[in-house]
Amino acid sequence: MERYHLTRSLNSEGFELTIAEVADHDPSLIPVLSELDLLSYAEPTFSRYTLGGLMRFGRIYVIRADELVIGVCHTFRSFSDPDEMVIFNMALRPGWRGHGLGSRLLEGVLERMKAGGAKRVSLAVASNNRRAIAVYQSRFGFRHQDILQNEFNNGQPYHLLRLEMADWAPTRDTAHTSSQPE
Ligand SMILES: CC(C)(COP(=O)(O)OP(=O)(O)OC[C@H]1O[C@@H](n2cnc3c(N)ncnc32)[C@H](O)[C@@H]1OP(=O)(O)O)[C@@H](O)C(=O)NCCC(=O)NCCS
Repeated sequence: MERYHLTRSLNSEGFELTIAEVADHDPSLIPVLSELDLLSYAEPTFSRYTLGGLMRFGRIYVIRADELVIGVCHTFRSFSDPDEMVIFNMALRPGWRGHGLGSRLLEGVLERMKAGGAKRVSLAVASNNRRAIAVYQSRFGFRHQDILQNEFNNGQPYHLLRLEMADWAPTRDTAHTSSQPE
């Protein structure tokens, strides 16, 4: 666990910031994650059913500021390459964006994936989502693989990005970050 101070402070006392894998199916998290989804996208990504399925059969990570879930990362393993993990979706609550917390969440997720033996991580991101692309490509070194046309929302193009785990190492000492749900 770490005490984290935002550069533009939302709380002068700081927050206890934790990144945790949702280890067990937790029905109380479903409305929280559903709300986060609705706050983040023009149309819902998830239903209660798909969230429940991802929680049980995929892998979900959450970032909390004190007790509040402020962000989530939904992942699963690729069928075509079991050494590859897929980040299906990552989002922070609107008021918490732009403070480096998405990068903290992603770093925590990648660390856990690497420790779990993942060789590479892939994701698709809307080509006009400059902030997310900046995080994935500039900060973490994801490489452009392809442009996906007509696979997602309204035919909007998406970037297919991939990170080879051999090329990536955590940039900070995360020894204080709890991997257990509080
Ligand atoms: C994408 C998301 C998770 C990133 O988390 P975040 O906490 O906002 O991002 P961070 O503060 O860690 O980093 C943002 C980076 O983007 C850069 N950035 C911000 N706006 C940008 C823009 N319009 N163009 C290019 N870069 C931009 C920032 O400079 C920063 O990089 P730096 O720290 O190297 O300067 C978050 O913004 C979010 O939830 N967005 C809505 C949902 C979404 O789009 N999810 C991605 C779907 S895959």
